[in-house]
Amino acid sequence: MTHQEGSFSRTTVTAALPYTNGPIHIGHLAGVYVPADIYCRFLRLTGKDVLFVCGSDEHGVAIPMKAKKEGITPRELIDKYHKMIEASFGEFGITFDNYSRTSSKIHTETASDFFKQLYEQGDFLEETGAQLYDAEAEQFLADRFVTGTCPKCGYEEAYGDQCEHCGSSLNATDLIRPKSVITGAVPILKETRHWYLPLDQYEGFLKQWILKGHKNDWKPNVYGQCKSWIDDGLKPRAVTRDLDWGIPVPVPGGEGKVLYVWFDAPIGYISSTREWAAREGKDWEPYWKDPKTRLLHFIGKDNIVFHCIIFPSMLKAHGGYILPDNVPANEFLNLEGKKLSTSRNWAVWLHEYLQDFPDMQDVLRYVLTANAPETKDNDFTWKDFQARNNNELVAIFGNFVNRVVVLTHKYFDGVVPAGTSLNKTDQEVLLALSDFPQRISDSLERFRFREGLQELMSLARLGNKYLADEEPWKVIKEDPERVGTILNTALQLAAGLAVLAEPFLPFTAEKLKQILNFKSLKSLPSWGSLPEHANSLPSGHLIAPAELLFRKIEDSEVDAQLEKLMQTKKENEMSDTPLLPQKETIDYETFSKLDLRVGTILSAEKMPKTKKLIVMKVDTGLDTRTIISGIAEHYEPESLIGKKVTVLVNLAPRPLRGVESQGMLLLAENPDGKLTFVTPEEGASTNGAPIT
Ligand code: 2FM
Ligand code: ZN
Repeated sequence: MTHQEGSFSRTTVTAALPYTNGPIHIGHLAGVYVPADIYCRFLRLTGKDVLFVCGSDEHGVAIPMKAKKEGITPRELIDKYHKMIEASFGEFGITFDNYSRTSSKIHTETASDFFKQLYEQGDFLEETGAQLYDAEAEQFLADRFVTGTCPKCGYEEAYGDQCEHCGSSLNATDLIRPKSVITGAVPILKETRHWYLPLDQYEGFLKQWILKGHKNDWKPNVYGQCKSWIDDGLKPRAVTRDLDWGIPVPVPGGEGKVLYVWFDAPIGYISSTREWAAREGKDWEPYWKDPKTRLLHFIGKDNIVFHCIIFPSMLKAHGGYILPDNVPANEFLNLEGKKLSTSRNWAVWLHEYLQDFPDMQDVLRYVLTANAPETKDNDFTWKDFQARNNNELVAIFGNFVNRVVVLTHKYFDGVVPAGTSLNKTDQEVLLALSDFPQRISDSLERFRFREGLQELMSLARLGNKYLADEEPWKVIKEDPERVGTILNTALQLAAGLAVLAEPFLPFTAEKLKQILNFKSLKSLPSWGSLPEHANSLPSGHLIAPAELLFRKIEDSEVDAQLEKLMQTKKENEMSDTPLLPQKETIDYETFSKLDLRVGTILSAEKMPKTKKLIVMKVDTGLDTRTIISGIAEHYEPESLIGKKVTVLVNLAPRPLRGVESQGMLLLAENPDGKLTFVTPEEGASTNGAPIT
């Protein structure tokens, strides 16, 4: 138990509220929900009082913008995605105690009351100042409505509230060369009145609390980001917006304005707690106000400033609330080498994964944890997904459990044999087993989920090695009693796996408990019982027949996923390349002047001292002539010989580098700039055939 753990009597865990402008993808899962769920399951298993809350983040400009794109109302949009997100989290085994939404009545009340209290305490600055305004759309531009160059790092696509490249938190007026996302117009400045949280006044508190208080226990990436913001100097931050989607500003002068989404969203954690308490007949306040409560925020790195600087300043200003004890933020997960993106459909969507790989939740949980972006950005690839499943889950974990269960049935009719006269190896293996709960706990308490999972797999490896060394299938002929001891020992390891796998692989743990028939045991093995007596399964206990815990993933399955991504890539490339507008209309007479014929390339050579030109001899049916084309970067000359082509034969000859080109070959330009021949279809084989 760490020092921090020991001094608290309950834990409130929050997971970032996902925006309801799209479904959940693997980046969200790896960064936030899988580690948060592992942690909460672990706390519950070790007997801690833990509350795990989340909900949908339904305000902010992203919502009306996306609704407009989909041709539905913002309300329809949030209902659609809220339902979808909640259902997929449930199916994936994320064990929130409550999943709420920020469009709920309880949240509007909680956030409005919070704002009013700060207003009444005089904690806000109220200022009229110039803000960016799109005169064409008649709308103020803030947050995601405006992009421009980041003043800190020079990234050209920074948003009005944040630069996703360097993570800086920005005010829209900080952007260099701002541009409206709605119309593309250059915004003008227009006066408007807003309420500001004077973050500069909280600098002393933040320095004391974070820089002095959490230097050693916060992750270096989190601490480092906080330090750099504080060192840069904090500025007052507007907490209201001129928008019509959000929680109305509940104070005089607030008409037509709403709370800034990052003001209301984190309060959503409190609303979700209140909703849970009302449903369960509990008191919500200790979970947010008792200093003996440990508050933890699980988030991605783009949310650090909001959870470590802004929300804590809000809580401090309000008074009466505890502050987060830790914010174990993760870095980002990429997909096949590229940044995940909801708007570019570059993602593995959770709801689609659950359809494509039914009952394989744990495989994704495993891969995302084994490759978690804990200290740096990481990459998810389908090949790695397949390899980790086939070479680790199937070949190590599944193989060990299957062997021990099958052998127990084969030699002892499924009854746990007696473990008599343990030799040194058996004792060492059982001693090692009793150590695993502490080893895994140590990793999880430090938020090192990858390491914790590695430990779990070491236990499965130990089991495999033990069976391979002891070879019960050979020993059975001369010493069945010894085989009983070996299988008894191996079964204890399997029972240990069933208990310790639960935070990481909950579906597998459940299945394994069924195979080992835990429900017939008088005393259930637990995280706490394993170190005391590794003998969880008494001799005489009957286990269920073997069942495979994992199945192999075939090449065809990952190829299908890669094909889906290729399709997305193509679609993105198409939409990235603006189509040229149609040229001026011509009459038929003009068109009929073009004499297009089927031809065949007879020879092709690169024109010396040029990069692009190829000199060809082409049989046009009328004659054999020289044609020069700028395709050397797209075709090898040899590959052209014999190719059927479309030739414009009556183009006036023109000299190119001293050689006369006597016609033109028709080529299409792909979105990526690649040139390909417009080839006559198979069958149009007669050179000289006119193309009309
Ligand atoms: O970045 C996001 O997806 C936000 N919706 C996270 C909000 S976390 C909390 F503060 F609500
Ligand atoms: Zn930047």
